[in-house]
Amino acid sequence: MILALETSCDDTCAAVVTRDGEVRASIRSSQDELHASFGGVVPEIASRRHLELVVPVVESALAEARVTLGDISALAVTQGPGLIGALLVGLSAGKALAYARGLPLVPVDHLLGHIAALRLAPLGLEPPFACLLASGGHTLVLDVAGYPAPRRLGGTRDDAAGEAFDKGARLLGLSEAGGAELERVASAGDPERFPFPLVLRGQEGHDLSFSGLKTALLRQVRELGDALPDARADLAAGYQAAIVRQLAERAEAALDATGRTTLAVVGGVAANGVLRAELAEICARRGARLCLLPPALCVDNAAMIAAAAFAAPALEPGEYLALDAYARSPLAG
Ligand code: KG4
Ligand code: ZN
Repeated sequence: MILALETSCDDTCAAVVTRDGEVRASIRSSQDELHASFGGVVPEIASRRHLELVVPVVESALAEARVTLGDISALAVTQGPGLIGALLVGLSAGKALAYARGLPLVPVDHLLGHIAALRLAPLGLEPPFACLLASGGHTLVLDVAGYPAPRRLGGTRDDAAGEAFDKGARLLGLSEAGGAELERVASAGDPERFPFPLVLRGQEGHDLSFSGLKTALLRQVRELGDALPDARADLAAGYQAAIVRQLAERAEAALDATGRTTLAVVGGVAANGVLRAELAEICARRGARLCLLPPALCVDNAAMIAAAAFAAPALEPGEYLALDAYARSPLAG
């Protein structure tokens, strides 16, 4: 059984997962409210809050799994990418717990964690598959021939898809729930009323770009002025449709380029219902299999870190004490 920690951004997460991919407990303590008034995650505040939450969250995970530290055979922890101060809290806690118990520690790349979530129950997906990873910090198009290392086909040239949702939500004057809140508001809107430009048509290969959409939204919001409240749902729906269209096009292109017959979508944005529906349509048309995670495994969680740890080398006590966190993933390009 692995005890995993994830503290790369503003969620303090711990999970207990068995070797056959059963999630015995997955605890996620969100700091959303703490950062709300700042309009974004404040790294120093996130680190301090992780420090307060990490022990209680580990205790909750052990309690929910009905195990003690004595039942744990290895620790897994996110090493990067993410906010360095936030990562260091989880990494230090993981080292301390592992060292005190004489257990091995597995450092995990957060992006590989998002992909490894597919191995967990209920999906239990094994490669090969084409994969779209769309989160708040990253957007990548990947060919996964085997665990752990995927091949990068393309990625965003500017903002990540989740970042586009978050910035869009802020421009529309929505609360800090970002993408999820934008989706909720958009569900009452007409996506055709405000057409958004198609970006990067031509030499982009598998790359994506979202900053142009954000600028187009800003211009619309300014033009509308006081009329924004009445147009908010339509504007949100049009903006969301433009993000989703680009993601769906790239996902389909990845199936074409790789010849894979399975498409998997991971990361927080994979929780978006409109994206899920559009991908389902594409896959049905092509006779491809679409693998979607339950929303709780799309967003940041520690169960995915445990899942990645089963396919990664473990370090023995003494080998991991000097281990450092990193801000950028080699996978991000
Ligand atoms: O994977 P994740 O939890 O954290 C990162 O690794 O970044 O992804 C968080 C991102 C945020 O940008 C959030 O706005 C977005 O996922 N997100 C959504 C939805 N739920 C979360 N975006 C669109 N629609 C949703 N329902
Ligand atoms: Zn993430």
